[in-house]
Amino acid sequence: MNKSSPFPYFSVIFLLLNVSPIISTTPTTEKEYSTFYQCLKNQTTFSDQVSNILFTQTNPSFSTLLQAYIRNSRFNTTSTPKPIIVITPQQGSHVQGAVFCAKSIGIQLKIRSGGHDYEGISYISNEPFIILDMFNFRNITVDIENEVAMVQTGATLGELYYRIWEKSKVHGFPSGVCPSVGVGGHLSGGGYGNMIRNFGLSIDHVIDAQIVDANGRILDKEAMGEELFWAIRGGGGASFGVIISYTVKLVHVPEIVTVFKVGKTLEENATELVLQWQKVAPLADDRLFMRLILQPVSSKVVKGKKTIEATVMALFLGGADEVVKILGKEFPVLGLMKENCSEMSWIGSVLWWANFDNGTKPDALLDRNYEASFSKKKSDYVEKTISKEGLEGIWKEMLELRKTGFVFNPYGGKMNEVPCDATPFPHRAGNLFKIQYSVNWDEPGIDVERNFTNQARRLYRYMTPFVSNSPRRAFLNYRDLDIGTNNFGKNSYEEGAVYGVKYFNNNYQRLVKIKTKVDPENIFRNEQSIPTHPSKPEFAHASAIIYVMKSGQDLACTLLDWSLHE
Ligand SMILES: Cc1cc2nc3c(=O)[nH]c(=O)nc-3n(C[C@H](O)[C@H](O)[C@H](O)COP(=O)(O)OP(=O)(O)OC[C@H]3O[C@@H](n4cnc5c(N)ncnc54)[C@H](O)[C@@H]3O)c2cc1C
Ligand SMILES: *[C@@H]1O[C@H](CO)[C@@H](O)[C@H](O)[C@H]1NC(C)=O
Ligand SMILES: *[C@@H]1O[C@H](CO)[C@@H](O)[C@H](O)[C@H]1NC(C)=O
Ligand SMILES: *[C@@H]1O[C@H](CO)[C@@H](O)[C@H](O)[C@H]1NC(C)=O
Ligand SMILES: *[C@@H]1O[C@H](CO)[C@@H](O)[C@H](O)[C@H]1NC(C)=O
Ligand SMILES: *[C@@H]1O[C@H](CO)[C@@H](O)[C@H](O)[C@H]1NC(C)=O
Ligand SMILES: *[C@@H]1O[C@H](CO)[C@@H](O)[C@H](O)[C@H]1NC(C)=O
Ligand SMILES: *[C@@H]1O[C@H](CO)[C@@H](O)[C@H](O)[C@H]1NC(C)=O
Repeated sequence: MNKSSPFPYFSVIFLLLNVSPIISTTPTTEKEYSTFYQCLKNQTTFSDQVSNILFTQTNPSFSTLLQAYIRNSRFNTTSTPKPIIVITPQQGSHVQGAVFCAKSIGIQLKIRSGGHDYEGISYISNEPFIILDMFNFRNITVDIENEVAMVQTGATLGELYYRIWEKSKVHGFPSGVCPSVGVGGHLSGGGYGNMIRNFGLSIDHVIDAQIVDANGRILDKEAMGEELFWAIRGGGGASFGVIISYTVKLVHVPEIVTVFKVGKTLEENATELVLQWQKVAPLADDRLFMRLILQPVSSKVVKGKKTIEATVMALFLGGADEVVKILGKEFPVLGLMKENCSEMSWIGSVLWWANFDNGTKPDALLDRNYEASFSKKKSDYVEKTISKEGLEGIWKEMLELRKTGFVFNPYGGKMNEVPCDATPFPHRAGNLFKIQYSVNWDEPGIDVERNFTNQARRLYRYMTPFVSNSPRRAFLNYRDLDIGTNNFGKNSYEEGAVYGVKYFNNNYQRLVKIKTKVDPENIFRNEQSIPTHPSKPEFAHASAIIYVMKSGQDLACTLLDWSLHE
């Protein structure tokens, strides 16, 4: 990227503006970016650096820059809406300036860290917008003595794991399994991985953060206060500000951990395996995480026939003998033997889970290249086991659809111990497992896309009787615009409640209260952000609809601050 390249387009616009004040025929986008540029130039602290960090559509680097963190090919087409500008801050003051100027112009600012959002909302919009791209914010400092790490939001999970491993072989951090995921979206949205049952979510280990708020101030935990600090640990960063860094407490991992992967098809009693998995996985030893992957595959028995394969992929924070013993007793259908297990270091398990070849060096975690496909994801939570008849119906539906699969992620363990209002993430005790619906394809085209996204939607509809209801829960980090979006009109609170209650259950209301306080002008908004407090009568009405409680389990979350009603 040629950073010293001048901005000819800017110069032209700038001249025009100087000669004759705003011409009505000037397209809005040109006007907006010239004003934005001028506003940044007016920020005396970095006036001379503006052209190094601002990229317009006519800049030769624009497309490369934009595409560098698009991780879903669905949003990599010529018709995908493009930003007017990509701004790539290199220091805190650049972020402050971008927030200040976006606010003064009234243009939408989308914040992108790792770009893994399943609906691309960090880099797409239906209104004119600017991308604030955080990829230069990738510093990580690991302090083993105090067992903490400061990680900037543009860093990836792989980089965080690597930097911890460099300093200690017995420390780790409980986050996602895909190394290219960005810290910014992942931690602000909850963050879970294969140590969830032993350590909970990433946000359960966040002890400080730095944020640029709607007034362009840089605030740490103390300065932002408990409420905002609560919100940005699971409530989604993009509703509240630009998070620059998180400080996290590291966790202890054993020197040797065990992984295994064992799969069975329907002909090999996969149904029995799934039945038993549901009873064992959420209740097993906290050190054991057994992900279940369900997908249609070609039958090995009958040529040309499809079957369902159920694969258990596991991490045990201990040795192979111990896990074989535990599962021999609790999960006989799996038939796990020591030969099926591999013992390795924790960082080795990170590489194994990320599907790297055996023997790959940890440096691979620093590689930001990513092989993308087209994909659609959805999520659900399961609170009671699905019966044999239920599973058989699901297999039939999957075989008819042919491509959409499931990933079941067991909860339990530490997740049962954290109250559902300790963070905005409410899906704690009472959930057996989370479902991810997953369909990937390689062929571009609108018809193909409709075909596959509709498969996922059809399977989601089919699953209704088996999953949580009122609300039907969803995981924010598995972004799904099907469950509702906001137009930020006069019904923004109700619109927000449609998806907000699914993602946050009763914590939605507290998030609205915090949002109203810290960003009353709704500078930080996207298709599924938290709306501000509406006028009171509407609010009371909406709350009455939302507070339909269903079980004692949720009681802790109803005892929230009701002061909004006064
Ligand atoms: C291949 C893949 C694997 C995944 N695996 C897991 C997993 O194992 N566990 C899990 O929990 N999730 C997983 N996810 C989901 C992932 O956690 C979310 O998509 C997460 O939001 C991605 O963060 P990001 O920074 O890469 O995304 P982005 O697309 O950059 O951002 C996502 C959202 O966060 C906002 N945001 C980003 N950075 C900031 C910031 N600095 N300040 C304020 N707001 C910000 C964005 O505006 C957007 O709304 C996976 C996703 C993919 C594509
Ligand atoms: C930049 O500063 C000048 C001089 O203070 C002011 O007149 C102008 O309105 C400012 N422009 C923007 C876009 O902020
Ligand atoms: C987007 O398109 C570019 C250029 O065609 C390609 O190099 C890149 O790999 C694509 N990215 C994704 C996520 O599809
Ligand atoms: C990262 O750290 C280096 C070295 O301390 C510093 O020069 C740089 O400004 C930091 N980057 C950011 C984005 O904070
Ligand atoms: C598990 O190990 C046994 C004994 O070596 C072997 O027969 C079986 O194929 C293995 N299963 C898997 C899924 O690797
Ligand atoms: C499936 O289960 C039946 C009944 O329990 C058993 O007889 C059979 O051997 C199992 N098949 C496989 C492939 O494990
Ligand atoms: C990786 O390779 C080594 C040496 O060939 C072998 O001992 C080990 O079992 C392999 N591990 C896995 C996970 O395949
Ligand atoms: C739709 O998906 C199915 C597989 O699930 C495939 O067989 C079919 O060809 C697809 N149709 C189109 C138009 O892509």
